[in-house]
Amino acid sequence: MAIRYEDVYARSLADPEGFWREAAAAIDWSRPFEQVLDQSRAPFFRWYVGGELNTCFNALDRHVLGGRADQVALIYDSPVTGSVQRFTYRELLERVSRVAGMIAALGVNRGDRVLIYMPMVPEAAMAMLACARLGAIHSVVFGGFAPKELATRIDDALPKLVLSASCGIEGAKVLPYKPLLDEAIEIAKHKPAHTIVLQRPQSVAGMIPGRDLDWAAAEAAAVPADCVPVAATDPLYVLYTSGTTGIPKGVVRDNGGHAVALHWSMKNIYGVEPGEVFWAASDVGWVVGHSYIVYGPLIYGSTAILFEGKPVGTPDPGTYWRIIAEHKVAAMFTAPTAFRAIKKEDPKGEFIRKYDLSAFRTLFLAGERADPATIEWAEEMLKVPVIDHWWQTESGWPMVANCAGLGLLPVKHGSPTKPVPGYRIEVVDEQCREVRRGETGAIVVKLPLPPGTLPTLWNNDDGYLSSYLADYPGFYKTADAGFMDEDGYLYVMSRTDDIINVAGHRLSTGAMEEVLASHKDVAECAVIGVADQLKGQVPLGFVVLKAGVNRPPGEISSECVGLVRERIGPVAAFKTALVVPRLPKTRSGKTLRGTMRKIADGEAYATPATIDDPAILPEIAEALGHVGYGKRG
Ligand code: COA
Ligand code: AMP
Repeated sequence: MAIRYEDVYARSLADPEGFWREAAAAIDWSRPFEQVLDQSRAPFFRWYVGGELNTCFNALDRHVLGGRADQVALIYDSPVTGSVQRFTYRELLERVSRVAGMIAALGVNRGDRVLIYMPMVPEAAMAMLACARLGAIHSVVFGGFAPKELATRIDDALPKLVLSASCGIEGAKVLPYKPLLDEAIEIAKHKPAHTIVLQRPQSVAGMIPGRDLDWAAAEAAAVPADCVPVAATDPLYVLYTSGTTGIPKGVVRDNGGHAVALHWSMKNIYGVEPGEVFWAASDVGWVVGHSYIVYGPLIYGSTAILFEGKPVGTPDPGTYWRIIAEHKVAAMFTAPTAFRAIKKEDPKGEFIRKYDLSAFRTLFLAGERADPATIEWAEEMLKVPVIDHWWQTESGWPMVANCAGLGLLPVKHGSPTKPVPGYRIEVVDEQCREVRRGETGAIVVKLPLPPGTLPTLWNNDDGYLSSYLADYPGFYKTADAGFMDEDGYLYVMSRTDDIINVAGHRLSTGAMEEVLASHKDVAECAVIGVADQLKGQVPLGFVVLKAGVNRPPGEISSECVGLVRERIGPVAAFKTALVVPRLPKTRSGKTLRGTMRKIADGEAYATPATIDDPAILPEIAEALGHVGYGKRG
């Protein structure tokens, strides 16, 4: 394929309005937009102002009307329940219309919020599409979060209704969801009027009469609902993501820009065609699940896969290859951690050779830094291009990638390649001056951001400005740091805030510190992200006890571990809290987290000149050594 990337990229920056006007032709609008980009309230930018559409119509109805009614739209593949279910576009439309009717019957209207707390079952995708159909705003919460996190989101989004299921299935474990939901509603100040619970046979949930409704009965009794046109600028969903405190940020996604950008990305970034099978092995609770399990493939007319399982253990490290072969997957997207898990169990790729992967063209990796060793292994085993690409919840779709649909550029391991059309990416210093090529700095994106990116935070314009726009005027702060090489390839190396990436899941160490600090015996604490061979990073806590506390440190450590699991959830993978005599600090009182991380990772470190008590560092190193961190040869 001829490489068109440079031309397309240049045009997207030279004439963004023309570029995105053209891309918008791929979407069905019930009312055409009057303006491509409204800059009148800069730095708040709005795309496709005056336009009206319905995202669900674009994902389902138009394909049924346009000749794809009998094409499979969604494949639910669940090794944990031993089932595979296929829904054609016609069948999915029927179910979604009914689910929308079920929701509407409870008084959910355009603009109302619906919280979705569900495992990876097809009803989760139906719930999202049904909200979109009604113009209601969904907020999906990942199942691995604890009731307290769910309660925080309920209190911020103020949903009229919560959609849930009796349980999730994690490998061999059946995890009841309903008790977690009950507890969350108990803790939350806002009480949603109703919940609708999908009863799964693996664990049947107890119901609260009057508040909780049975999904199957309610759906069977529902009158199918039609699409409600909404403004292009109306929110489609709010997705909470970790910020630098315990309060998550409600990233808003609008309808119009989102539909255009995702459609464009399917062809140009992922290089697939309508009718082909696209598989994102993620979870609907994350942005990858929103964009590339549900909306992207369906808006584009592809076949999407919703996978309820793990890369290993369900039942073996060949699951991914079975799915690719069985469903003729053309392109797949997952996090590098999944490949590290597979590689650990099947280093020689013996399971790969059991399957016919001839229809498989491209593997995409994102969610965390893709280490070159993992990429090389995947390339060698699969013999297809392995594309690292970089984006975040806030952008909603890739910001830097090797665009398969525009002709692949030469791959450089360790780099997600070049900015995607629509994104002008710069690496800058603290004064917002572009640094020289090869020099590390903050990665920022010139405003206005392209369609599909966050227009603001939910009910929090000020938070949007202060979190993302204040530090580098005229630019969006990604909070990632890295460098660009002479050829314009970007290298994303680390975060500039306290976010860590654990098995591709975004978590805040600040939020974990808030939890540890609430323990009655803890005087102060620090949580850092340390390198982990499987998960990329894992959190590691340090606690200093209050004077006079003389309980066994091991007991307090386990309580701290339990507390993080209880307040944030198992997804935090917080397994270690070390009791230390004091934290290393500068003379001005700043905790030296960077030095602690270097010691834990076994890297060379210099004792900072500003440290107030150098003797603490060997003590920290010794404590880390006892739990297997530090000098690891
Ligand atoms: N509902 C409830 N609990 C969940 C959950 C969910 N949806 N997802 C994860 N958890 C729990 C797990 O059961 C585990 O609990 P445990 O401490 O009791 O064992 C904990 O959260 C951590 O889960 P996870 O990070 O998934 O670790 P793991 O050891 O179970 O699996 C991998 C490791 C690498 C196999 C797994 O992380 C994986 O498949 N990653 C793929 C990457 C991915 O999906 N990334 C999303 C962004 S693209
Ligand atoms: P999330 O919002 O959960 O998608 O997490 C986004 C963050 O994950 C980014 O800001 C990066 O820190 C990290 N990330 C995602 N993709 C990549 C990648 N390809 N390379 C390096 N870091 C990545």
